Formats: sequence, C-alpha cells, structure tokens
Amino acid sequence: MTTATARAHSNIALIKYWGKRDAARNLPAAGSISITLEGLHTDTRVDFDPTLAADTCELDGEPVATERMRPLLDHIRARAAIESRARIITHNNFPTGAGLASSASGFAALTLAATAAAGLQLSRRQLSTLARLGSGSAARSLFGGYVEMLRGSAADGHDAHAVPLLDAADWPLAVVVAITDADAKAVDSRRGMTASAAGSPFYASWLRQTDADLVAMRAIIAQHDFHALGALAEHNCLKMHALMLSTQPALLYWNGATVNAMHALRALRKDGVPVYFTIDAGPQIKALCPPEFAATTAATLAAVPGVQSVLRTGLGPGAHLLS
Ligand code: DP6
Repeated sequence: MTTATARAHSNIALIKYWGKRDAARNLPAAGSISITLEGLHTDTRVDFDPTLAADTCELDGEPVATERMRPLLDHIRARAAIESRARIITHNNFPTGAGLASSASGFAALTLAATAAAGLQLSRRQLSTLARLGSGSAARSLFGGYVEMLRGSAADGHDAHAVPLLDAADWPLAVVVAITDADAKAVDSRRGMTASAAGSPFYASWLRQTDADLVAMRAIIAQHDFHALGALAEHNCLKMHALMLSTQPALLYWNGATVNAMHALRALRKDGVPVYFTIDAGPQIKALCPPEFAATTAATLAAVPGVQSVLRTGLGPGAHLLS
C-alpha cells in the first residue's frame, strides 16, 4: 500500500505535560494523563509518491510547512526502506492552533496514515513512540478514553509512549469547550515549555508536583471519583498556568473571556453542579462534568461575555484507519 487515511481524535490533559528532558528527541520531563475527545478530530491522507521532489502538506485546503513532520516521516521512510516523499492532505473539524490540541490529533493521524501507507505494521506502543517525535501530546491520541503518557528513562526514548488506563465506555464524561478566540496562539507549546524550563523559578517544583499528581490521578480514575478528578485536574491546570505566568517573559494564554468563564464555572459549582475546568496553552476553556450536566454547563458557558461558541463532546476512541 502507498496510500492510507487515518482519523485521530484530539485529547486534553488532566495532568499536564509542560517540559522536556530532551528537546531533540522530544522526550517529556514528566508523564501526563489525558482524555481523548470524541468530537474533535483530524483526518489525514498520506500518499508516498515517487514523482514528488519534497514532502507536501495541505491543511484544510491551504499549503503548510512540513519541517515539523520531517523527523517523523524520515524515521518512517528509514524503517520501511522507502525513498518517496509524502503528499499529505489533512482536515481538522475544529480551529487549528488555538489550544484545542490540533498537533495531538494531527500528528497521531499522520503517524498512523504514514506508517500504513509505508506498509509498516507496528504495535500501538510503537506508533505512540513515533507520534511523540511529532508532538508529545500526539503520543496520547493513539489511545481512546483515559490515557497515560509515560516519561520513560531510556536516552533513545523507546519507553516514552502512552498506555491506556481506562476505556471511554467504562466511565463516560462530558467535555464542554468554550471558544473565546479562534485565532492561532502567540507562543506555541514547544517554545513556551522551553521558556518555562529556562525562565521560571518554579520549574523544578512543577515537575515534582506533576509526579505526585500522576499517582493521585491514576487512583482517582481507577475509583471513578468525579469530584476528585475534577478538583485535581483544575488544580493541576492552575499550577501549570502559575508556572507559565512566572516565566520570564511571562506566558499569559488567557483573555478576559477565559477568566469570565472560570468565574462562571466556579459559580455554577457553588450552585451544586459538578463541573470543573481545564485550560491548555491557549484561551479556550474546557469544562469537565458528568454527561447529564453537559447541557446546563454549555448554556452557562454560552452566556459568558466574550465566549464565541461552545462545543460539547464525550470521550472518544484511539486513532484508527479509515482506508
Ligand atoms: C499545554 O504536545 O503541543 O497542551 O511536544 O512540543 O509538540 P510538543 O508539545 P505539545 O504540548 C502540549 C501542552 C499542553 C499540555 C498537554 O497537552 O499535556
């Protein structure tokens, strides 16, 4: 086969990845835990074409640079012993580069489509390790439901891949995403986390906190304790943003509507609705709640000044081939 199409769903971290132990191999400084999202996905077709002079990529109809895909594609070509360049055609069903983890679903879909197009048959763990070369969070999108990314300790990174913790169907959860600005963010995660490692006095403490939060979150997921999950996810997110704010120069990903939404969700919680939030390296806010509270949460977020639109989703599957 020289052509294949794959779909991968985005994910959001409950325990965040913000720091690398090896930038060249893209190895995380700590593990992370995420949930895969049903409603946000990337579809990617890869065609290895001997007539192409260079790799090309079209995202939602526009040409995009392929440099960041190069390490992953070169690795796949070397492993499959092929020389051909890749023609990549990809679509997101959500805004790109605005903190909705388009690099997670994008690199997971690219990894699965490109390995299949190259004729490679790899295990999920091998695919996850490969996807990490593109983006750390992409390694998690190979799996569905509740997923843990392992930090690993090997210098070559072969043990830095994701593993599944719990199927989506075993503990349904709703995520309500409030879009407050659909434009691409100013400082991408890669540059942001390098800046925090170099320029925040709290970086070492953040990594210690992450290790402790991972232990606690694993137990919470095993027990299906929603309040504990929400409280820890929100606290871990706010610690990451405290680290970002303490970076020099400061990384401030929130806008006014993000802050309005945080207040609105805290007020809703005070009124008895079990809802918590998390925020990545962008201004969108993601509310977590049991599915029966998704409608109330969505209505609350839609009424917040500055919120442009609201998406509702449940938990989704791992990356899969479409053809
Ligand atoms: C804030 O996976 O985009 O979303 O490995 O450099 O591509 P690279 O970073 P990326 O970072 C994600 C950061 C985050 C937290 C998370 O998803 O864990």
